[in-house]
Amino acid sequence: MAIFGWRQRRRPLDGGGTRRRLFFRPLYSRKFKRMILFAVAFLAIFPPLFFHFKLRRIRQIVSQKCDWLHHPPLVCAHGGDSTLAFPNTIDAYSYAISSRVDCIEVDVSRSSDGVLFALHNRDLQRIARNSSVQVGDLSMKQIKELDVSQIVKGSLGNRRIPTLEDALSLISNSVRQVILDAKVGPPMYEKGLAQDILSVIEKVQCNNCIVWAKSDSLARDIIRRAADITVGYIVMVDPSTGMRNNLLRMRGARVVGVYHPLIDEKLIRVVRGRNKGVYAWTVDDADPMKRMLHLGVDAVVTSNPAMFQGFMEDLRTKCLEEGFSIRT
Ligand SMILES: *[C@@H]1O[C@H](CO)[C@@H](O)[C@H](O)[C@H]1NC(C)=O
Repeated sequence: MAIFGWRQRRRPLDGGGTRRRLFFRPLYSRKFKRMILFAVAFLAIFPPLFFHFKLRRIRQIVSQKCDWLHHPPLVCAHGGDSTLAFPNTIDAYSYAISSRVDCIEVDVSRSSDGVLFALHNRDLQRIARNSSVQVGDLSMKQIKELDVSQIVKGSLGNRRIPTLEDALSLISNSVRQVILDAKVGPPMYEKGLAQDILSVIEKVQCNNCIVWAKSDSLARDIIRRAADITVGYIVMVDPSTGMRNNLLRMRGARVVGVYHPLIDEKLIRVVRGRNKGVYAWTVDDADPMKRMLHLGVDAVVTSNPAMFQGFMEDLRTKCLEEGFSIRT
């Protein structure tokens, strides 16, 4: 494109005739002027716009990564800290309390003679070295005789399986919340179980106890009997159908315990829409831990609370370094 151009100009001259004169002059064509204008406009608008969107995107990424800091999830130790001690023992609870978890999940099973223990069938099978024995097969006396120290070395000295009452007496004043995971088993199944659990809760005056169970009829029974107790139900993949069980199926329940791979933004929106909290279980690895934080669940149940706490602390430091500010 020519900046300078020769141009012929028509000039009226005396004598009535016309003469063509060529003269040299720097000329800007209209097209060129338009281009300059565009360029200036482009420079004026595009870079600020670019940085605006870029900044917004960065902020979005940071906020997606860091927003959980405004409402950090409860860290719930699954059976206490079972990386350091046998699950659901006084030792495991003590380790969890000393690493200042927010909450502890206690597995609750009933003996054949009706005593509630902090014990999971799976753990009983390890102690008894019998893969088919269940808590409901044994009496209180038999369970009290079991010795955990054969399984784990280096215990703090508490070798016995605690009753639910012993467990709650130790932990309920040391954490913000206690989740009782009520297991239904033989020989009595649900019969009277809700009442047994509520009796222990009342006896130790556990006012931060919540109860959840895979058995809906047990959860409903608790809701019916004790309106002031927070109750949860479990959402998981039903092994018989391979499908996720119904997300909103119990009106009176305030907590939904969800198998963590099933949790996404939509699930959280739906559950919160019904004024219920989303508790993720059992989150033991770094990637799902990160995912649960980004999704902003209300609580995370983990067998490795110390790892999760360390992970949260690292992420918190990173977020603050990247300029994320925590509203107070
Ligand atoms: C394992 O437990 C079951 C149920 O209590 C019992 O019937 C069975 O005899 C036990 N097996 C052994 C090897 O102790």
